[in-house]
Amino acid sequence: QAMRQQFGNIVLCGFMGCGKSTVGKLLAARTGRQLVDTDRWIEKQEGRTVSQLFAEHGEKWFRQRETELCRTLSRRTGLVIATGGGVLANPLNACILRETCTIVLLQPPYEVIAHRLSGDHSRPLLEGPDKDAVARRLYDQRMPLYQAAADFAVHAEDSRTAAEQIYAVLSD
Ligand code: S3P
Repeated sequence: QAMRQQFGNIVLCGFMGCGKSTVGKLLAARTGRQLVDTDRWIEKQEGRTVSQLFAEHGEKWFRQRETELCRTLSRRTGLVIATGGGVLANPLNACILRETCTIVLLQPPYEVIAHRLSGDHSRPLLEGPDKDAVARRLYDQRMPLYQAAADFAVHAEDSRTAAEQIYAVLSD
């Protein structure tokens, strides 16, 4: 049963480690939609990892690439879009994407996110000794912005369950 086209692109948002990429893959497979992962897109375009791009060009430059990509993707349809954690923390990007997309917030319990982030070194915002405190502060700052951007939230810890819940909401 096809997911209704009226929902446009399905955008997954939420904090680092909330499962956007994993749920994106599952949802794309379930719906037959193409998956776009914004971090992977920018990395491919630039031939550098996100960490390298932050180091070489700075965060502001990376945020501009994200906004450009939002404009590009908002002109397309039928996609599942897994965003980087900063994308929907910017109300401008939310405004651009809302035109043609349904935005879903992935919000597992914070402990699940913290566990996934511990021991990860691919995220430049979470380098340094007080990483846990930095992550918690950023999470508290961003959650209201994600909530304002999203059409609805799913709270499942497990990625398969989250993907099924989204599919159920967006199908007949
Ligand atoms: C960021 C999240 C990362 C990546 C970059 C910045 C953020 O993506 O875009 O490190 O500002 O939250 P993930 O959410 O996939 O980790």
